[in-house]
Amino acid sequence: MDGKVVETPAEPVDSRLKDKVRIKNYPCEERNGILWTWMGDPDARPALPSMEWNMVPAENVHVSFRVQECNWLQAVEGEIDSAHAPILHGRIDSKGAISDWVAKRDLRPVFECQRQEFGMSVASRRVLDEATNYWRVNQFLFPFYTLVPPQSQYPELSGHAWVPIDDENTLCIMFSYHPSQPLYEKTRKLFEAGHNGRETGHASVDAFAPRPPSEPYAKYWTKFNLKAAFMFDYDAQTKTWFSGLPGLWVQDAACQSGVAPVYDRTREHLGISDTGVAMTRRLLLERVRQLKERGEKPARYDDPTLWMVRAVSLTLAAGETWQAQEEVMKAKLGADFGYAL
Ligand SMILES: [Fe+2]
Repeated sequence: MDGKVVETPAEPVDSRLKDKVRIKNYPCEERNGILWTWMGDPDARPALPSMEWNMVPAENVHVSFRVQECNWLQAVEGEIDSAHAPILHGRIDSKGAISDWVAKRDLRPVFECQRQEFGMSVASRRVLDEATNYWRVNQFLFPFYTLVPPQSQYPELSGHAWVPIDDENTLCIMFSYHPSQPLYEKTRKLFEAGHNGRETGHASVDAFAPRPPSEPYAKYWTKFNLKAAFMFDYDAQTKTWFSGLPGLWVQDAACQSGVAPVYDRTREHLGISDTGVAMTRRLLLERVRQLKERGEKPARYDDPTLWMVRAVSLTLAAGETWQAQEEVMKAKLGADFGYAL
C-alpha cells in the first residue's frame, strides 16, 4: 500500500517511469476484519483507537456494513436518542420482545447529559415504580461513534461507526458484541438472515441492492431507501408494527434519512426529549470551532484508551445516580457487564 506503480507494460523496457510515478496513498492497518486508515499528516499518525467491539474475539462479535442515504450526523442523532425506541420499534399486536421491554413502561424518559472527554453521555431515566428507576446511558464518541446499551432479552452491546462518504451518504458499520462470551449461534443467524422477512439491527443478506462496481461501496447499498419508501406497508402498520416498516434498522434509517439527506435544521422544533441531540450538537459545534479558529484538538484525541467505554442499562433505586456507576461504563477487555441486565 505504498502507491508505487508496479508495471508499465507499453513503455520501453528500460523506462523508469514506474519508479517516478506514484498515486496518492494512505497507510492502512487491519484489526479484526476492519481496515483503518490515516488520512492526516503522516508524522502525526496516532495509534489505532482501542474500541472494545474491534478488540473482542471474533466469535463474540458480529459486524455488518451498509450505506445509508443521509448525512452522518442525522444518523448519530437518531441513535443517541433513546426516547424513540419503545415507540418507533413497538408492535401493536402485543407480540414480540419489544412489547415486554421494561422501557415501554415509561414513554416519557427524563434526559441527563454529561460531557465527557470522549464525547457525550446521554442518560435517560424511566420511572418503573416509586422506588425504582430504569436508566439507559447511550454514548456518543468523537467523531462519529455511538454505543447503545444492552437489554435483558438481548444481552449484547451494540453501536455504529457512522462514517461519512460525502454530505448525503454514510457508511454504517454496525457492531453487536458480548464483552465476555461468544454470541449465540441463533443470534448470529438472526443478524445474517433476519426474521420472517424482517430486518434486525443488522442488514441481512436479503437487504442489499448492489450497484455497479464503479460506485463507492457498491455491494453495500440496500433496497430500503427513500425511493422505495423504505418498504413501508400500511397493512402491517394497522396489524403488527406501529411503524409499518420491516425491522429495526429500517425503522431507524427511515426516520434518520426520511425527510431529506440533509434536513433544514432552521425549521425543526426540538422538544424536551431532544435534550441529548441538542447537547451533542452544541458540543460538536464547539469542538469544530475550537479546531477551526484556534487549532485546538479535542483532549486525548491521540490516546487510544479514550474510547474504552460502554453504554449501560441500569435498574437503580430512586435517588441513586447513574454517574455513580462509573465503573461499569468502563470497557475492560474480557470482563462481563458487571451488573445484572
Ligand atoms: Fe432505534
